[in-house]
Amino acid sequence: MDLSELPFCQACGLSATRQRVVVGSGPAAPGLMVVGEAPGRTEDEGGEPFIGRSGQLLVRLIFEELGLERAQYFITNAVKCRPPQNRTPRVGEVATCHAWLEAQIATHRPAVLLAVGNVAAKAIFGFEEGISRTHGRPSNCGEVPGVATYHPAAALRGGPNVVDVMRADLRVLHSLGV
Ligand code: URA
Repeated sequence: MDLSELPFCQACGLSATRQRVVVGSGPAAPGLMVVGEAPGRTEDEGGEPFIGRSGQLLVRLIFEELGLERAQYFITNAVKCRPPQNRTPRVGEVATCHAWLEAQIATHRPAVLLAVGNVAAKAIFGFEEGISRTHGRPSNCGEVPGVATYHPAAALRGGPNVVDVMRADLRVLHSLGV
């Protein structure tokens, strides 16, 4: 896949309703790649992943637990276009977009992956169980190690306990070299 073509992708129906493809951004050779679910309204308008409310929480937790500023890691999503009404991306949409995610991982060769939320955890690590059972479990995507955690939107809904669990999951990345 030629990543320069990603901004023009029309491989699934989300291309009809998105404002723009939210490709992601970060260092060319990042120590850490963070992968979320799909852009929301703010990201569809702004063109960057995780710039809305849940993104601000995620970026803060990564800084507090790992000491990394946003510009120090690559940040993207399993699905690059906003689903209408922010619905969960469909299995087929995640599968179609997977080639782009694989191309990003192959190109940027992150040392470690962080999957954020159920959709990203399944897309990256192939988990069949849900995030409540898989979060914090060191896993591999090909040769790249990583871990999954809850989506920050769940923390915004679910309160301080979810935040504490996310913090503990992030600290697992220390044992993977972050
Ligand atoms: N939620 C995500 O999973 N990704 C974003 O970019 C924004 C919200």
